[in-house]
Amino acid sequence: MATATVKSPTRAPDVPEGVGVLTLSSLATPTPLAAATLIDGKALAASERAAIKQGAIRFLAQHGRKPGLATILIGDDPASAVYVGSKARACAEGGFESFGYVLPGDVSREEAFDLIDRLNDDPAVDGILCQLPAPPHLDGTELAARVLPAKDVDGLSPSSAGLLALGLNGLRPCTPMGVMRLIEETGVEIRGAEATVVGTSNLVGKPVARLLQEAEATVTQCHVHTIDVAAACRRADILVVACGVPGLVRGSWIKPGAVVIDVGINRTENGLVGDVAFDEAVDVAGFITPVPGGVGPMTIAMLLKNTLKAAWSRA
Ligand SMILES: NC(=O)c1ccc[n+]([C@@H]2O[C@H](COP(=O)([O-])OP(=O)(O)OC[C@H]3O[C@@H](n4cnc5c(N)ncnc54)[C@H](O)[C@@H]3O)[C@@H](O)[C@H]2O)c1
Repeated sequence: MATATVKSPTRAPDVPEGVGVLTLSSLATPTPLAAATLIDGKALAASERAAIKQGAIRFLAQHGRKPGLATILIGDDPASAVYVGSKARACAEGGFESFGYVLPGDVSREEAFDLIDRLNDDPAVDGILCQLPAPPHLDGTELAARVLPAKDVDGLSPSSAGLLALGLNGLRPCTPMGVMRLIEETGVEIRGAEATVVGTSNLVGKPVARLLQEAEATVTQCHVHTIDVAAACRRADILVVACGVPGLVRGSWIKPGAVVIDVGINRTENGLVGDVAFDEAVDVAGFITPVPGGVGPMTIAMLLKNTLKAAWSRA
């Protein structure tokens, strides 16, 4: 495996000889194999959060209150509790007010709706996030749909998905926003690029594909029944993988020089791994996100960005 270099935000990429910052014309000719530039999601998220904090400070100065994010945790799923805890910490560090609500795992649909309605009406709350998955007796989509579109900072309600589908102004889902920000950071032109997205979930695959279309890429989407996923990956200048299958995408599936964004987070006996076989891919790709430290850290940064946007729009 070659040693990858790290792409940090705001600085020019530290590009190994033979790779170069990619443009579509350079992508047309296969480049000699060399280590990809790593896209450092941790560093990019930190710089985004620093900028968002400045925005939160300006909001406080103008409106006499911090932008506010309410989180709703239903039940005692340990992973969900960890996610909600890290969102509350990010709020505190970023100059946001956080309002945490924990409902019992057997809460009724009406009681959950009641809380969402109160938060919809609360002027101190700019964003509402209902941590999913919801317990089996509740419908996560129905809960998300209850949140006012103007406060849907998770961007997962049917209204937000509709606004995205129509290309209208709205709050976009956080992980897909993070994916787009990581791609932009490479400097590779999205307009006119061939982009392949592996995965069609409402959470990641569908919105990422739509955002890439909005940025004028030509997009192919693959799912579990796609006949030849490898062929679709091989023609991609930009490849986003979100399928939850450890190491599905092999090095031989990647177009030399491509941007590879690995959204997968899989717990294995060897620790956290992505959906891309990193050790192989790093020798072929032009830019690649590591797991962990790629897409993951961007999600919370984008949540704060959405909350700040919601606060300014409501002010
Ligand atoms: N980094 C983050 O912040 C973040 C956020 C959300 C999800 N994730 C991770 O991303 C991954 C995907 O999550 P999700 O919620 O989008 O997944 P999901 O399980 O809802 O959907 C998986 C998608 O991948 C497709 N798929 C499955 N096997 C495939 C195969 N062999 N070939 C082609 N397509 C295949 C399915 O058809 C489906 O469209 C998971 O590992 C998840 O943990 C990470």
